Amino acid sequence: MGMARLLIIDDEKNMRWALSRALRSEGLEIFTAGSGPEGLALLREEKPDLVLLDLKLPGLDGLSVLRQIKAEMPLVAVIIMTAYGSIETAVEAIKAGAYDYITKPFDLEAVKLVLARALENQSLTKEVAYLRRELETRYSFQNIVGKSAKMRQVFDLIERVADSQATVLIQGESGTGKELVARALHYLSGRRTGPFIAVSCAALPETLLESELFGHEKGAFTGALTRRIGRFEMANGGTLFLDEVGELTPAVQVKLLRVLQERSFERLGGTERIMVDVRIIAATNRNLEQAMREGRFRQDLYYRLNVVPITLPPLRERKEDIPLLVQHFLAKFSRTNPPSNGLAPPGGAAPSGGHFQIAPAALAALMNYSWPGNVRELENVLERACLLCSGGVITRECLPAEILAAEEGGGSGFTLDIPEEGLDLEELEKHLILKALEKSGGNQSQAARLLHLSRYALLYRLEKYGLKKTEKPDSPM
Ligand SMILES: Nc1ncnc2c1ncn2[C@@H]1O[C@H](COP(=O)(O)OP(=O)(O)OP(=O)(O)O)[C@@H](O)[C@H]1O
Ligand SMILES: [Mg+2]
Repeated sequence: MGMARLLIIDDEKNMRWALSRALRSEGLEIFTAGSGPEGLALLREEKPDLVLLDLKLPGLDGLSVLRQIKAEMPLVAVIIMTAYGSIETAVEAIKAGAYDYITKPFDLEAVKLVLARALENQSLTKEVAYLRRELETRYSFQNIVGKSAKMRQVFDLIERVADSQATVLIQGESGTGKELVARALHYLSGRRTGPFIAVSCAALPETLLESELFGHEKGAFTGALTRRIGRFEMANGGTLFLDEVGELTPAVQVKLLRVLQERSFERLGGTERIMVDVRIIAATNRNLEQAMREGRFRQDLYYRLNVVPITLPPLRERKEDIPLLVQHFLAKFSRTNPPSNGLAPPGGAAPSGGHFQIAPAALAALMNYSWPGNVRELENVLERACLLCSGGVITRECLPAEILAAEEGGGSGFTLDIPEEGLDLEELEKHLILKALEKSGGNQSQAARLLHLSRYALLYRLEKYGLKKTEKPDSPM
């Protein structure tokens, strides 16, 4: 990574001079402006990574400058400098998208720490861009995305069994990608030019399901006015995907077993034996083995179906796949419905429209959630966030409350109880830090992780609130 670029916007000449001098020695390339309009012009010209912005500027005020910066370059981290005691303005600035604030007078070490943290956070954003490229090349298999060891095992297994005739049983919680795997198996097999037919065994009552699967002759039952071809026949030469196979009634289980044994069946109300060449892939989000032990699922059918078991792990057991999946879905939504005010994807121009991006804090929140609805839930959350976010960047505000709540509560391992009368921002932050230190037994690295702060950022705040020597506070409030 090249030298980071910092733009300082402050009307006080001495301040610009002192900051440039101190920060240049930190290896930053520095540009300075004495007013809002001058700052905005430099922003467009120099495309800095970071901006240090004085809130009190003559003419175009700091907040307006901030809003303009965020509208033009949403990923630039803007750090606000504000006078001591004007916490309301600082809060307003954070709401307008500022990365952080420092109160004047400040010492330079504090400024360096905030900048270091902002840069670290930006490298996370860049990491995300890097992941996107990885995704396109290595971690995607037939549209199935994943880099975790568990998913790579699944990929291996798919590759090994796809081209055989073996029946496959795919198990996994709802939304883990069972149908996606079933399709991959079909399209990697010699049957790829044949049909892929899916039937949900849960959707229909028994008679209708039987007719759906095996078809019926005219007059087979009331309402059977014409002959009907069933799914088994339609799938001839291809793959039949029996979804939610755990829901099959005992009668249909028997019939299915017969087809699997004999590769032939009769239509309802018919006598002709129909031979089919069909590969069966079954899926269920139930524990079939348990259903079998409890007598709800036939043992012989279970063994017929479970020739090759593929188990999809829940998303919470492979959180390292989340950033990759996020990129995958953002790319997908950018293609179908690009953000109007969006950005070109890093490392290349978008063919048309912009490309959705995610703020590091939002990604952190997604990483902390337990995803009971697995990948499908993640996809839905992102789709909604893409609709809600402005400027093509998904921030925490675009995420559902339950995800943010999980992060503050269970996710981080400690809960925040805000007193009825509320706290101001600094009090709240102090309170959180003390809570985290208490939780971590005074271990600062661990506390920083709980707070989603870098260690530097925590140290800076410990200093700021005079908590520095208190490695282990004995009375945390
Ligand atoms: N590893 C993955 N990579 C990319 N997309 C995925 C992945 N897993 C699931 N998806 C997407 O998530 C959604 C749900 O997947 P799918 O329908 O295959 O799940 P399922 O296990 O069949 O769920 P259910 O049990 O609820 O039917 C789909 O839009 C699918 O494309
Ligand atoms: Mg499904």
